[in-house]
Amino acid sequence: MMKTLALYPGSFDPVTKGHEDLIRRCASLFENVVVAVAHNPNKQVSLFEVEERLKFLTKSVEIMGLSNVSVTQFSGLTVKFAKQIGASVIIRGLRVISDFEYECSMYQANRTLEDTIDTLFLMPSLEYQFLSSRMVREIAYFQGDITSFVSPHVQQALLQKVKSTA
Ligand code: PNS
Repeated sequence: MMKTLALYPGSFDPVTKGHEDLIRRCASLFENVVVAVAHNPNKQVSLFEVEERLKFLTKSVEIMGLSNVSVTQFSGLTVKFAKQIGASVIIRGLRVISDFEYECSMYQANRTLEDTIDTLFLMPSLEYQFLSSRMVREIAYFQGDITSFVSPHVQQALLQKVKSTA
């Protein structure tokens, strides 16, 4: 196990089984992992408030029983936050080819901003290769079955959210 603190940043709107898969794998690779929800003012409106997203992630980590993973939030640059908490590695999930371009430019930008911090990419398990929060939000909105994509506590919250906004 790498004696490193790894930062896994993202929107997590909401956390999916793909994210959970990655968190589980990070937890066995690194001594400590911080999963952090980014306040992202440039992102189109989110479905869940940051507080709610944190709550779902915390519950997921608890259910998975991962004692070396903590959940938090941050605003501003990811590399600055990584430095602030003493993380030397940023973890990003890489799914299908469509992720590549965005991840590539983010990787280069982050390296240019802070060359002491590197990014490692992990691929989710095959069944989650095409899964995204955006897709889950859309399926839930149209009352589709999201059992395969999110954990029960997230599913419940999504169904409630969809009802309340209908
Ligand atoms: O889950 P997402 O939406 O793909 O996560 C993207 C995220 C939050 C990691 C990215 O937007 C980010 O790092 N935002 C913080 C601001 C920042 O550091 N921007 C520079 C990266 S080019």
